[in-house]
Amino acid sequence: MPLIQVVLASTRSKRFGERPAAWVMDRLGARTDLDAELVDLRDHPLPFYDLATPPAHAGRTYPDEVTAAWAGTIDRADGYVVVTPEYNHGVPAVLKNALDHLSIELRRKPIAYVGYGGTGAARAITQLRQIAAEQDMAAIRSSVPILPDVMVPALKTDTFDVEMLASLDRRLDTLAADLVWWAEALKAARKA
Ligand SMILES: Cc1cc2nc3c(=O)[nH]c(=O)nc-3n(C[C@H](O)[C@H](O)[C@H](O)COP(=O)(O)O)c2cc1C
Repeated sequence: MPLIQVVLASTRSKRFGERPAAWVMDRLGARTDLDAELVDLRDHPLPFYDLATPPAHAGRTYPDEVTAAWAGTIDRADGYVVVTPEYNHGVPAVLKNALDHLSIELRRKPIAYVGYGGTGAARAITQLRQIAAEQDMAAIRSSVPILPDVMVPALKTDTFDVEMLASLDRRLDTLAADLVWWAEALKAARKA
């Protein structure tokens, strides 16, 4: 079964992101066609990019333990679901910085996006698809936008439950099924 990592892309204190990430983990965890693992960028406090050798040329050599732990974590997955907000019509800086530290670890793997905010992070996801192309990844068609009608009640409550996002289950199911297809296909192709 492919290992799918759910990357929680906001590190902000009092972030909303952990709520949709918990929902994605709950739903992916119930599937029998993948193994799901949460990756929280808070657990990987990378410095601003300062690598002497660009990741694309460095192979799997890393200058410090934090970078090695981040890259090693991402390296072992077969596909990714990034749960992301949008900051000023774009990709959150902490996510872009984390992606810039990677290259070979992501190559020829699929990636999908769950976005939240005024437009479901549509502008950030558009940018992330461009970044994925440069990183030689397959950004799959399906995404899940969590729009204000669903986000605001889930944001404002003190007693959040993942069922508050259940209206998006079908979209997430489609995303997960597509992602597994690509993860299996590309895993086999990488092996060959
Ligand atoms: C610096 C900053 C910029 C933002 N820019 C946007 C934006 O461009 N579009 C949008 O829909 N929401 C924007 N928002 C609102 C976020 O959607 C909202 O604060 C969300 O909770 C952020 O995710 P987080 O709480 O997981 O960090 C912005 C929030 C911040 C902090």
